[in-house]
Amino acid sequence: KSQSVWVSRPLFPEVLASLAQYVDVRTEAKETKRTPEQLHKKLAEVDGAIVGLSDRIDAGVLAGNRRLRAIANLGVGYNNLDLPALTAAGVLATNTPDVLTQTTADYAWALLLAAARRVSSAERWLRAGRWRGGMRFDDWLGVDVHGKTLGIFGMGRIGQAVARRAIGFDMHVIYHNRSRLPEAVEHECRAIWVDKAELLQRSDHLVLVLPYNAQNHHAIGADELAHMKPTAVLVNIARGGIVDDAALAAALREGRLAAAGLDVFEGEPSVHSALRELENAVLSPHIASASADTRRAMAQLAADNMLAALGYGPSAGHPPSLLNPQVLGGRGGET
Ligand code: GLV
Ligand code: GLV
Repeated sequence: KSQSVWVSRPLFPEVLASLAQYVDVRTEAKETKRTPEQLHKKLAEVDGAIVGLSDRIDAGVLAGNRRLRAIANLGVGYNNLDLPALTAAGVLATNTPDVLTQTTADYAWALLLAAARRVSSAERWLRAGRWRGGMRFDDWLGVDVHGKTLGIFGMGRIGQAVARRAIGFDMHVIYHNRSRLPEAVEHECRAIWVDKAELLQRSDHLVLVLPYNAQNHHAIGADELAHMKPTAVLVNIARGGIVDDAALAAALREGRLAAAGLDVFEGEPSVHSALRELENAVLSPHIASASADTRRAMAQLAADNMLAALGYGPSAGHPPSLLNPQVLGGRGGET
């Protein structure tokens, strides 16, 4: 085999096998946070790499690399990729949209319901052997979800899928997004556009689904939290860094927010110690897309993108989820 692909973390064996039909595959026994120097060295030796959120691919790690042709990201969000740098280096970049939309929307609801109804906290209490009779009728009171106003910040495919599920809970849905959705889509999602201030003030529960970029850093900080209802639940399935975790922990501790359901964190895999101490925070290790079917589909899509980018398979030369089509033009027909 003339080309080789580095896979930065363990993947499903059958997906690796599909790659190995065409290319030499280099695997890793576990996911680790690699330094830019380590990444630089790994990428220098291969034609393609399948990477994840913890692999930051920027101009530095690409410097001097004349061989690399493709990076396939395992995830829809690709803030770990410096796209202009990849494009400038002539490297094709892909992500995994669509296949995770419904599963990720399901998980937003899992976190919202768990946080609103205190599921994790109650379970910790039960497992600790503290349910011994004498429980009060007014213990474990949560906040309702049905019939309330659901706010969605970021109304891409996942945000829309979250909105559609709200119909079953009889909720009013408001959303904020840089651009308004076409009226037909708003109608189908039964969602009404509001500005950010109104979203914060009116939401009984707020789900964050916006992509991370420099403008969205701390989009939810102390100021924004101060405008939310003290009975509200905040759910973050987007990216760490969109929420100021220290400010959120303070709001949760001081009862200025009822609860939070968080799948992503600033500086993950480390999680702010103040959040870890809070009973009213439901915390999970970035698993919103982790159903068996969906993780398999994401891995296969990343592999298909890689093979297509390197010129193999049915869509040779045309990766299904290409982020920088300019690179194809720049190669002057070479695929
Ligand atoms: C996961 O966070 C993704 O972007 O797919
Ligand atoms: C990503 O956030 C999407 O809209 O699919």
